[in-house]
Amino acid sequence: MTFEEAYAYTSHVGSMGSYTKEQLRALWEGMEATNPAFGHMDLIEIGCEYGRSTSLIMQWLCDKAQSDYSLYLIDPFTTGHDVMERCMRNLSHIPVPFVLCKCSSADAYWMINKLTTGNRKFLHIDGDHEPDGLKADCRLYVSELWSGCVVAFHDYGCPGLPHIKPIVDTYTKGWEVVAHRECCYVVRKPYG
Ligand SMILES: C[S@@+](CC[C@H](N)C(=O)[O-])C[C@H]1O[C@@H](n2cnc3c(N)ncnc32)[C@H](O)[C@@H]1O
Repeated sequence: MTFEEAYAYTSHVGSMGSYTKEQLRALWEGMEATNPAFGHMDLIEIGCEYGRSTSLIMQWLCDKAQSDYSLYLIDPFTTGHDVMERCMRNLSHIPVPFVLCKCSSADAYWMINKLTTGNRKFLHIDGDHEPDGLKADCRLYVSELWSGCVVAFHDYGCPGLPHIKPIVDTYTKGWEVVAHRECCYVVRKPYG
């Protein structure tokens, strides 16, 4: 599946306000930079809302049916009364299994640690945008990653959220930039 083919569906999920086409393209490029051929892969998304970015990740996984993977989605869905229902409806059209942790990323941490193999290949962070929330996600989920893991951050360099870039830069210093379009920034933890 190509990005344009996946975008044909994702463009109808959520809104441009949450993720533009160019930002989604960077997310796709980040997933393409993972190495699914090598063993089991765990993928984690923090912050799904209506499932716009999630729908892209899941469509990318559609092509990986032969791979051994687990997808974990984390969101407390507290921003509106029917957000989770709409998200699940949007994702129900994509034949990819996932584990939903309906709680904050901090509360999901122990569960994710129990369930995952440790071989996290891809992490997307678009949850709590407050400085302390983002720092907690970086401390809990980014600092323990294995070499080669790809991490996508949304709202990096966004003028309305100036604290995001310095926090991300602190936790990913020296990492390889694999994609960067508008405010979607994707890096890979170096080997060695
Ligand atoms: C900007 S939206 C995510 C947009 C989504 N990635 C998309 O492509 O449309 C942020 C989401 O993060 C969730 N969120 C807020 N705090 C969170 C936390 N501590 N852990 C996990 N998710 C959180 C919110 O419920 C909200 O749905």
